[in-house]
Amino acid sequence: MKEENNVINQEKYIEKIRELNNGKNLKYSILTMGCQLNENDSEKLCGMLEKMGYTRTEDVQEADINLFNTCCVRENAEDKLFGKLGELKRIKEKKGTIIAIGGCMMQEKHITDKIKESYPFVDIIFGTHTLYKFPEDLFTAMEEKRKIEDVLDIDGEIHEGLPIKRNSDIKASVTIMNGCNNFCTYCIVPYVRGRERSRSPRAIIEEVKELAKKGYKEITLLGQNVNSYLRVEKEKNIEFEEYEGVNSFATLLHALNKVDGIERIRFVSPHPKDFTDDVIDAIATCEKVCKLVHLPLQSGNTRVLKEMNRKYTKEQYLELVEKMKKTIPNLTLSTDIIVGFPGESDEEFEDTLDVVRKVKFEQVYMFIYSRRVGTPGDRMPNQIPEDVKHKRFNKLKELVESQIEENNQKYVGTIQKVLVEGTSKTNENMLTGRTDSNKVVIFEGDKSLINKIINLKIVSEHMWYLKGNLLNKECD
Ligand code: SAH
Ligand code: SF4
Ligand code: F3S
Repeated sequence: MKEENNVINQEKYIEKIRELNNGKNLKYSILTMGCQLNENDSEKLCGMLEKMGYTRTEDVQEADINLFNTCCVRENAEDKLFGKLGELKRIKEKKGTIIAIGGCMMQEKHITDKIKESYPFVDIIFGTHTLYKFPEDLFTAMEEKRKIEDVLDIDGEIHEGLPIKRNSDIKASVTIMNGCNNFCTYCIVPYVRGRERSRSPRAIIEEVKELAKKGYKEITLLGQNVNSYLRVEKEKNIEFEEYEGVNSFATLLHALNKVDGIERIRFVSPHPKDFTDDVIDAIATCEKVCKLVHLPLQSGNTRVLKEMNRKYTKEQYLELVEKMKKTIPNLTLSTDIIVGFPGESDEEFEDTLDVVRKVKFEQVYMFIYSRRVGTPGDRMPNQIPEDVKHKRFNKLKELVESQIEENNQKYVGTIQKVLVEGTSKTNENMLTGRTDSNKVVIFEGDKSLINKIINLKIVSEHMWYLKGNLLNKECD
């Protein structure tokens, strides 16, 4: 009840700002860095701002509020924010724009200290646990004309019922849990997002049913560790209401598979250590659950994995892949890999290449290890020199690209079910969509096909996309 009251309380601030803004036609810009969870948070910030009477603009010069939703998982995100802030200073001086920065990076004290010292023109700083309070923070900043810092260092609660303005009318993200308890030694996320806590089955199922009613075809379930959904609650005897038989990630997949209108279900990111058999069976048997599974590897070497605190070995990862391939027809896999973790030797890096060669991922998201203040990895003595990290990165990239080319060839001549998402960004006369395995397909067709799942014959491959031809037949 307390959480609900918190959100209702924010409605009052939304209304107050709406009254202040009445007739002014004010605009906001928002820049989101980071993962899909952050994108989903930004959709909520957009929902709040639009309810307050602001409309979105992509032009920071034109905006009355400039908002950043930040990420701190790797160093380059910080460079990007500080670069942008320099640019905004001039606009602020000219126009008196409100500048608000939120998200993961604001949970880091050394960063908020730097902002306050070097960028004192920033009006509002808010963290991941106080996002729901943005209307109140904005109102206070406007009314009292003072700087606001609203960052909580505790585990925030889950706030249901926030307004939301989604980026797409076809695909929607649904956050099912917040936080992470895994503490991989390279990763900052557990420190900035707090401990794992799951949304209630009822809230998730109702959100998905509502999305289906609005015509959404695809949902992506989000969390830092989706396949441990409700695990902490069960371990700690935290009461939760079972709804439509949902008491785990697998049962959630089964329940959502029954929602009429939703055609595709994706999820990111699961952790290999929590990939239980019931989840594998659910992917295999639920026809709407896409057969592309993101299975973060991080490293293919058992010693490095141990240092990373990943809790699986190279062999266990490969066994899991084999089991999944056996159980799930047409399975494809994507993954995340970090190169240059402290202490990683050339031979150990070869193990990563070995796993990549063996598994033949559909897609590999590759990262150069980035030291994060406050993580155990940052304190490890044997940091890898930048040039070695880059050499390894390039070697991995070369392997991955050669595999993509080879893999794409397999699509040519096949018929694929494609969810049509819109017109191609590069060619107005072409449509674009995605296969179950999330490959982009470009094809010629009528705009009435948008938001439908259709059969396409793949005629050629072009590294990052496929070309298809219509069969003039919609799927059942
Ligand atoms: N919870 C998810 C994703 C976390 S962040 C998971 O466990 O898979 C997304 C990816 O960023 C990670 O999978 C990892 O590959 C990468 N990453 C995280 N911290 C990093 C760091 N310090 N340096 C480089 N890459 C990092
Ligand atoms: Fe970071 Fe590991 Fe948690 Fe993923 S599982 S968010 S990599 S600590
Ligand atoms: Fe970045 Fe925060 Fe996501 S650190 S990756 S935006 S959870």
